[in-house]
Amino acid sequence: MKEYFENKVAVITGAASGIGLGMTEHLLKRGAMAVFMGDINQENLTRESERLNLLFPGKVFTVLADVTKLEQVGELITKAEAFDGHLDFVFNNAGVGLTLPTEKITFEMWKTAIDINLMGVIYGTYTAIPIMREQGFGHIINTASIAGRIPIPYQAVYAATKSAVISMTESLQYELKADGLQFSILCPGNVITSIFQGLAAPPADAITVDEAMDYAFQEIEHKSLVIIFPQSMRDIDVLYRENLPEFEKVVYSLAAERRENYRTKGTYY
Ligand SMILES: NC(=O)c1ccc[n+]([C@@H]2O[C@H](COP(=O)([O-])OP(=O)(O)OC[C@H]3O[C@@H](n4cnc5c(N)ncnc54)[C@H](O)[C@@H]3O)[C@@H](O)[C@H]2O)c1
Repeated sequence: MKEYFENKVAVITGAASGIGLGMTEHLLKRGAMAVFMGDINQENLTRESERLNLLFPGKVFTVLADVTKLEQVGELITKAEAFDGHLDFVFNNAGVGLTLPTEKITFEMWKTAIDINLMGVIYGTYTAIPIMREQGFGHIINTASIAGRIPIPYQAVYAATKSAVISMTESLQYELKADGLQFSILCPGNVITSIFQGLAAPPADAITVDEAMDYAFQEIEHKSLVIIFPQSMRDIDVLYRENLPEFEKVVYSLAAERRENYRTKGTYY
């Protein structure tokens, strides 16, 4: 089903590294007409877009866009739509991780996480919707996290932003299907990106961006609403919904492990 992405115009936020960069590469490999990469990191945007433009000339565009600023997200999406008069995909992907004990969380941290992880996705989604309704098609893919599906100790702030992304996007799917719109939610577990920079090694169950995107793009083509990866996260998600006592054993043991890691190594992983 390569044609699902062929000759399509896409927008990606947080496209200059990690999962967003993987999305860019996978769209180009699958024949996209143009990918508009948005990010706040100009250096990475320039380096990666120049590299990709050699492989896919005339198909990669960059916009310095901070997802906490509605007008900058608007500019990114408007430019993409103006390119060929249609907007096929919007990947609201920019986000920041936060794993901290409650006593270290400030209200300022809450606000920053909500502004980037939730308001950023809201700005992208609600800017794209009227354009897509008008044209009668479009697929919006919002990056959440497994932490939005199941409770994870030391990630209350992050989880709150990601579960809001999940429930908003699910609601929109059922409201706007009749207008020709499609929604998907990515719920990654551990994927090796700069999120794990500074650790001696990424978590043992972490997969590469390429492995993650192979699975995610196959599911996006199938128009799956909730896309969870890797397999171990699909298993734990089912455990949470179908066998809470067993799930709780796993999650209390994770809490103990994180407490001990933090005490001995200063990090949770
Ligand atoms: N890597 C994982 O294990 C993992 C797990 C679950 C969810 N996620 C989610 O995946 C998404 C991508 O994360 P990643 O792991 O690729 O991290 P990453 O740090 O490699 O990439 C995030 C990108 O977003 C950009 N960004 C940060 N703030 C921004 C802002 N205000 N406006 C625009 N761009 C901004 C960064 O410059 C960076 O290029 C995030 O939403 C993250 O929460 C990642």
